[in-house]
Amino acid sequence: MKFFVDTAELDDIKDLAATGLLDGVTTNPSLIAKSGREFVPLIKEICEIVDGPVSAEVAATDYPTMRKEAEILRKIADHVAVKVPLTPDGLKLCKELSDDGTMVNVTLCFSAAQALLAAKAGAAFISPFVGRLDDISHDGLDLIADIVRIYDNYEYFDTEVLVASVRNPLHIVESAKMGAHVATCPPSVIRQLYNHPLTDKGLAAFVKDWEKTGQSIL
Ligand code: G3P
Repeated sequence: MKFFVDTAELDDIKDLAATGLLDGVTTNPSLIAKSGREFVPLIKEICEIVDGPVSAEVAATDYPTMRKEAEILRKIADHVAVKVPLTPDGLKLCKELSDDGTMVNVTLCFSAAQALLAAKAGAAFISPFVGRLDDISHDGLDLIADIVRIYDNYEYFDTEVLVASVRNPLHIVESAKMGAHVATCPPSVIRQLYNHPLTDKGLAAFVKDWEKTGQSIL
């Protein structure tokens, strides 16, 4: 499973890129607003840090304006994935950009029917939002299972399932069991993946016992 970080904070992106385990970055207008940074130069900086796909979302909702915005975004770098909303105009743009060799991430997916449309439009990624479904008492992970199953039925669908709106490590582990290709997670959730109390306890004991030997490997 690939790990993307869902943030526009450069310090977090640099920190996680240094682990060697980061495969890409996703941003959205809310994250850009939170960063306080100017959008296009920020995406450029992120692209210089991370080699994998960097999602940059169009701001408009009408096709002609989204098309113009997408032209600017895809020129930032070859590994920019233009993010479009799951609307008729968004999917029309997705089909055109995908046919032209640009990666597209279709966002705000809340149903399997929507995911089917995105695959037919040639999306590189479909972003189903698990946490926001959980928030309204629908099981977000059920949606991941449905999409993975549907995509597996058709060899000619190349769209990767990018699990979004991830709130906890269980969302990631359960999605990985289902075979979802990517999880995009807030930095805090990626860091939580490392944690287990028995790891901490075991390591403390090993350190203490090693000191008793009086040895040094170096
Ligand atoms: O970037 C899309 C998605 O991951 C947003 O998540 O936490 O705002 O529901 P959230």
